[in-house]
Amino acid sequence: MNPQSLAPTDRQLDIPPVLRYGRDRILDAAAAQWPGSTIRIRGYVPSATSCVLRIAVGNTPFVAKLSLLGVSVSSVLRGTHGAWPEVLAAQEQYESGAGHLMERQALQYGLLASAGLGDSQPVVRDGVLFTRELPGRPLGAVVAQYPARTSRLLRGALRELNILTARPEALVLARAAGTPDATISAVFERKFGQSQRSDELLEQAVIRLRELAAGLDSPDVAVFGDLKPEHVLVGRDRYAFIDPALSVGSPVLDVAKLVSRLVLYLAVVPSSNPCRAMAGIDEAVAEWARHTAPGPHGGGRLWQLVLAWAMDTANILHTVRTAPAMMPLPGHLHGLLGVDHRVVLMLDRIARALEQNGDGGRAWATALSHTDQVLAR
Ligand SMILES: Nc1ncnc2c1ncn2[C@@H]1O[C@H](COP(=O)(O)OP(=O)(O)OP(=O)(O)O)[C@@H](O)[C@H]1O
Ligand SMILES: [Mg+2]
Repeated sequence: MNPQSLAPTDRQLDIPPVLRYGRDRILDAAAAQWPGSTIRIRGYVPSATSCVLRIAVGNTPFVAKLSLLGVSVSSVLRGTHGAWPEVLAAQEQYESGAGHLMERQALQYGLLASAGLGDSQPVVRDGVLFTRELPGRPLGAVVAQYPARTSRLLRGALRELNILTARPEALVLARAAGTPDATISAVFERKFGQSQRSDELLEQAVIRLRELAAGLDSPDVAVFGDLKPEHVLVGRDRYAFIDPALSVGSPVLDVAKLVSRLVLYLAVVPSSNPCRAMAGIDEAVAEWARHTAPGPHGGGRLWQLVLAWAMDTANILHTVRTAPAMMPLPGHLHGLLGVDHRVVLMLDRIARALEQNGDGGRAWATALSHTDQVLAR
C-alpha cells in the first residue's frame, strides 16, 4: 500500500520551508528559461497537490507548478515521505528520472492544445512546468452564479471532452505518458485500501463502497482524469481544460468527478439557486448517458457513475480531513471542513442506495435526492 494513504504522523514537516523551496525552485527555473526577462510573482495558488505560483515573465502571465516526488504536498507535509532532508534527496532523484509527473503533464497539455482546448504552450524547465495562463472563468464559479446555464455548460464541456478522448492519440498518450495513480479508483484504493480510523458513519460508507467498487468497469477508454469544475475554463466561445491527468479507465470517471466536485462546490459557495444547478446537472448527465450508453446498458453506466461519484467524494473528504491544519487549501476545499458531517451523511445514503438499487436510473435519482443533505443551508 502506498504510504500516501497513512494518517497524519508525528513527523509532520514545518510548512514555510517547504513552500519557500517550491517558490525558489520555480523562480530559479523561470530565470533559467527566460534569461534577462523580468520575472514577478503575481500570486500563490493554494493546492493540496503541488507548489503553484502565478508569475509574470515580462508582461506575459504564466502559471508555474512543481511537484514534490509526484505525490501530494499534503502527504509530504504530513511527513509520510520522511524528514525534509530525505525528501530533498529523493526529489533530486525523482527529477533526474525520465517521465516525471510534470513532463507527462506537459505532453498532455500538448494534446489539449492540438485539440483546440487551450493553447497553454507548456514547457518544462528544471522540473518546473510553465503554462501560459489561459483565459476564461472556472466552470464552478459560472454555475454558482448562473445556475440556469448549468445544463448547457456541462453538455458543452462533456461534448468537447468526448471528442478529445475519442481521438486515437489520446489513448496512445494515456498509455504511454498517462497518470494512472490519479484515477478515482486508484486514489480510493490508496486512501481506503486498508481500514481507516475515521468516524463510524464514514467508515461504514467506505466499507460499502469498497465492496461495490469491484463492480466498476475495467479500463477501456482514455479519460481526462481530473475533471474538477476548476479545471474547466469557460471562455467567450470555447472551453479550455487545465491540469489533465490522462489515463485509461471507465468513461464514467470524468463525469463522476465533475458531478462529485460540483455538488461539493455548491455546498460551500453561495449560489442563488443550487437546486436549479442540480436540475441542470441531472439534464446534462441524462444526455451524456443517452449518448455514451444507449440502450439496455445505459442503466449500468449510471449505477457506475454514482459509485465513482461517491468514491471521489470520500477521497476528497479524506484529503481535506488529513491536510495539515496550517496548509493553504483552495477556499472551497477549506469550506468543506465546515460541512463535512453533512457530506458524510450524504455519502452514507448514497452508498446504501447503490447497495439496494442495481438499477442505475433509480440509484441516480436517489443519489440526487440525497444531495439535499449538503445543499440545504
Ligand atoms: N494554464 C492555466 N491557466 C489558468 N489557470 C491555471 C492554469 N494552470 C493552473 N491554473 C490555476 O491554478 C490552479 C492550480 O493549478 P493545477 O490545477 O495545475 O495544480 P494542482 O496542484 O494540480 O492543483 P489541484 O490538485 O488543486 O488540482 C488551477 O485550479 C487553476 O485555477
Ligand atoms: Mg488542479
